[in-house]
Formats: sequence, structure tokens, C-alpha cells
Amino acid sequence: MHMDVQEILLDEARLAELTDEISAKINRDYSGEPVLAVVVMKGSLIFAADLIRKLDLDVSVDFMQASSYGVGSESSGTIKIKKDLESDVTGKNVLIIEDIADSGRTLSLLKKEIAERGAKTVRIASLLSKPARRVVDVELEYVGTDIPDEFVVGYGLDFAEKYRNLPYVGILKPEVYR
Ligand code: IMP
Ligand code: MG
Repeated sequence: MHMDVQEILLDEARLAELTDEISAKINRDYSGEPVLAVVVMKGSLIFAADLIRKLDLDVSVDFMQASSYGVGSESSGTIKIKKDLESDVTGKNVLIIEDIADSGRTLSLLKKEIAERGAKTVRIASLLSKPARRVVDVELEYVGTDIPDEFVVGYGLDFAEKYRNLPYVGILKPEVYR
């Protein structure tokens, strides 16, 4: 375990189970319809890579980035689109793939934006959710698991761009970000 990590919350085996469960639901729900996977950069890269490999559908991939935490551990409240899609979403089934729903601001903005552009359907697959932190109500169609109000890193999630490469999701020691 990394010395900055206090506790492993989800190990590799558990993460594989979660992506299995989510992909099974998605495969069932879309029943053969094509999907545009919108990978929300950067935190969801590893989750998205694992998830889309388990999708037995006609999948296209595009990327989007919203401004979020910057280098701290608190979000600012104002979210902007920092990198936009290359694809036209009109008439498409869009599946937004995100690492974590915290305040809900990022996902709420992205979902609304994609819907306004004329997507046929817009759903969210979020590996993690911190219900205790929600400020904006947004429906998450697929969630791996709820987690307590702790700052987590690994499996794509960072603190100040570090720890994305850890193969597990772990709670960061508070002294690292205080
Ligand atoms: P929201 O807009 O407040 O829901 O924030 C979502 C974004 O904040 C996520 O995409 C993450 O990048 C980041 N975030 C929230 N909680 C954590 C955490 O515990 N660890 C790492 N990043 C987090
Ligand atoms: Mg993120």
C-alpha cells in the first residue's frame, strides 16, 4: 500500500466485480443499441477502460473535461467545460462515464448540456458516489458503490494529479491534503 494511503476501500477484485455488475446492467438496458461513451477526463480513464471492454454493444468513445477541483480537495462551485466533445451527439445514446459523483455539479452540468444538444438518451455510469456530499440533485443511472465522505485516490482518481496509477481505491491520509 502507498505510504500516503490510510486504508484500501476497494481492492482490484472488488473493482472488477463492480465493473462486471455495471456492464451487465448496461448490456441488458441498451439491448443491442449503439452507445457513445463520453469519458469524463481525467479521473474516469481507468474505470472507463475497464468498463467499455465489458460492453457487448456497438461503442464509440469521446472525451470531455470539466474544470473541477484544481489542485485542492474542495470544488469551487462553478463548473465549466474545459475540453469539449468532437462528436455530434444528436440522436445518440450517450453514456457519461465518471469516476465519482461528489457535489453532483459536474455530472449535472454535463448531463444537461448533452441533453440540450439533442441526444436521444443521456445516462450516467459513475463508479463511486458520495451521497453525503451532494449539493445538486442528479440522477445516476449506474453507480458502482456509495462511499463515505472521505477523500479517495487511485484507479484514476487523483489528488493534485498524483495517485491515479494506484490499482485500488484508497482513502488518502488527511495530512497529505491539509
Ligand atoms: P462534483 O462536481 O463535486 O460532483 O465533483 C466531481 C469531481 O470531483 C470528480 O470528477 C473528481 O474529479 C473530483 N472528486 C470528488 N471527490 C473526489 C475524491 O474523493 N477523490 C478524488 N477526486 C474527487
Ligand atoms: Mg473527475
